[in-house]
Amino acid sequence: MMGREVQRVGVIGAGAMGRGIAQVCAAAGCSVQLFDTAKEAVARARDAVGGDLARGVAKGRLSQEDADATLARIQPANELRDMSDCELLVEAIVEKLEVKQQLFRELEATVRPDCILATNTSSLSVTAIAAACEHPGRVAGWHFFNPVPRMRLVEVIQAPRTSAETVEALVELSTRVGHRAIVASDSPGFVVNHAGRAFVTEGLKLLSECVAEHSMLDAILRNCAGFRMGPFELLDLTGLDVSVPVMESIHAQYYGDDRYRPVTLARTRLMAGLLGRKSGQGFYSYGSRGGGAAP
Ligand code: NAI
Repeated sequence: MMGREVQRVGVIGAGAMGRGIAQVCAAAGCSVQLFDTAKEAVARARDAVGGDLARGVAKGRLSQEDADATLARIQPANELRDMSDCELLVEAIVEKLEVKQQLFRELEATVRPDCILATNTSSLSVTAIAAACEHPGRVAGWHFFNPVPRMRLVEVIQAPRTSAETVEALVELSTRVGHRAIVASDSPGFVVNHAGRAFVTEGLKLLSECVAEHSMLDAILRNCAGFRMGPFELLDLTGLDVSVPVMESIHAQYYGDDRYRPVTLARTRLMAGLLGRKSGQGFYSYGSRGGGAAP
């Protein structure tokens, strides 16, 4: 696999992240197959990508021909087997370890022996996902940020048994899709979601303790402290269905260390369905479903 340039990519999970990953890979010239257990999700994802590309054309960032060619390179896959010829499969499905492990077992049974298997997990152990596989050398984390076409950083996560060739191929592809890759060893939350814990957790604590309104806290951190968004804007963008499991997973992986203890308010709001942009109501209200992206 040394020096290899991946051209055929399969993306599993066509939600906020999967469609973004599909878009940047297709824009870089890769052929992309997109699979989701919810069939309508793939069509929705192609529509969203088409909409984003159209906005790019309107703003003069790319030509109509390039936009059409990018969209045409993203094709739906009806089943996992349809992606058996891919050189890289990346999953962006639900953030649950057993579900991801089961998927990777299924993938290993269908893919080429040299196919790289990557996970876009925000917070689960890449090592534990790889441990479910017969060939852990080809398994790595490839962790993008939301929205993928605009957040041009990606973490390439090397688990203890991930091969150097797998890491090299992912770094090479990351660069080709226009992202800056940082290689990090597998550890809870990797770099960004570990360092970012304090930002959202302390924001939630301030809100729980009624120190200030969420909009005030966001405004202070955005306007005075130089963050691009405040913690509640970020949580709404990400969706509590994604961020609460991330908080709980990092806390559990650090053996319950108090530094990472999630704030109960987040789970309460998750249970109430106040997910953020994607449900139309989070810390803020969104007129129509906000189609959010996000960690
Ligand atoms: P999402 O909820 O928008 O999309 C997930 C998609 O996966 C859905 O369309 C669902 O139907 C599909 N799916 C679920 N189980 C599946 C399975 N077994 N096989 C095939 N498809 C399946 O979620 P989102 O936000 O795109 O997150 C996906 C993954 O990316 C998660 O692991 C999350 O932690 C990670 N992530 C999320 C970020 C975010 O900001 N939302 C940022 C970075 C990583």
